Amino acid sequence: MSQSTAAPTSATASVLQASEPIPEGTHEVSGVDFDKFQGHDITVAELVENMTHMGFQGSAVAEAARIINDMRAFRDPETGAKTTIFLGYTSNLISSGLRDTLRYLVKHNHVSAIVTTAGGVEEDLIKCLAPTYMGSFATPGAGLRAKGLNRIGNLLVPNNNYCAFEDWLIPILDRMLEEQEAAKRKAQETGDEEDELHWTPSLITERLGREIDNEDSVLYWAAKNKIPIFCPALTDGSLGDMLYFHTFKTSPQRLRVDIVDDVRRINTMAVRAARAGMIILGGGVVKHHIANACLMRNGAEHAVYVNTAQEFDGSDAGARPDEAVSWGKIKSDANAVKVYAEATVAFPLIVAASFARATPPAPPASTQ
Ligand SMILES: NC(=O)c1ccc[n+]([C@@H]2O[C@H](COP(=O)([O-])OP(=O)(O)OC[C@H]3O[C@@H](n4cnc5c(N)ncnc54)[C@H](O)[C@@H]3O)[C@@H](O)[C@H]2O)c1
Repeated sequence: MSQSTAAPTSATASVLQASEPIPEGTHEVSGVDFDKFQGHDITVAELVENMTHMGFQGSAVAEAARIINDMRAFRDPETGAKTTIFLGYTSNLISSGLRDTLRYLVKHNHVSAIVTTAGGVEEDLIKCLAPTYMGSFATPGAGLRAKGLNRIGNLLVPNNNYCAFEDWLIPILDRMLEEQEAAKRKAQETGDEEDELHWTPSLITERLGREIDNEDSVLYWAAKNKIPIFCPALTDGSLGDMLYFHTFKTSPQRLRVDIVDDVRRINTMAVRAARAGMIILGGGVVKHHIANACLMRNGAEHAVYVNTAQEFDGSDAGARPDEAVSWGKIKSDANAVKVYAEATVAFPLIVAASFARATPPAPPASTQ
């Protein structure tokens, strides 16, 4: 049987179907060409900028830096007000060395408000009392338990650190309770409810920041720079253990913590913002609390998510910015990106290419 010399037309038509022209302005894929940097060390800002058209998460990291630079460049044309930047991070990021980067942002007033979980508050304070150590993901839990060591991923926190935290914290809680009770007596005398002292998570984090009086601490700089640290789930950590034990110590009196005052405080910040930007590392409470505050202004203008969570399970943690657009938590014309990455890898790069640049990039035309 003779073999045909012509390929089947159906196959050639399928494989070699002609393309429509690529829309004008579409970028060619390109990456970091180290040949261009021969003779001098590439800076992180240069590296990140050169990842813009890399594709995949390289582009997302560069986009995150670009969005943050836009947040920073904005000035309200009438009032000169800057973007109100809400920074959220999960507790483990304070346990990790990323704490140093987060402290840098707070120390230099680069953010307006913080939302974290209980571990994000207490681990910052505990690190001022005793160190967290490098360990291994593979060390068996039973052996660590026998040695009084707690594992957070590949980090180790000795139990003694929590004992030191208790010794430091309980006298402060005692004084806070005294102040609460004294204010209550005053309010009874004056008949003015305003004289009462309502502790809130953000007032507690501010107080603890002043009490720790240590420049290594995020809470210290936040208190100094009047950057509120919100922690709606303040009791879900060692702090909660201490507050629980404290109720027995001081019974029948008890420290009261008002979370409603704090939701008013964060929502008011969002409502009054000339422009709102969200930078959220990780998911869960920290992500949603910021997004929900921005709902009060019909959405944030900028959003940068950095997390490892996926959306297929319907979790808020894994939801992309577009899901928040549907809820009115991010504006439909917002600048938004989700970086699918572990935050300790991605965020130092993003900060080096944005907040930490010695010379900020030229502002985009619309904000000049
Ligand atoms: N050191 C600690 O982690 C610690 C200490 C004490 C108490 N806790 C408590 O545990 C509870 C749960 O912690 P949580 O709500 O802070 O967050 P989490 O640790 O449960 O993380 C929530 C989600 O954020 C994402 N995420 C977490 N780490 C990430 C990373 N390094 N990079 C990218 N994405 C990341 C993941 O998708 C994860 O599912 C909180 O109530 C907290 O107070 C934690």
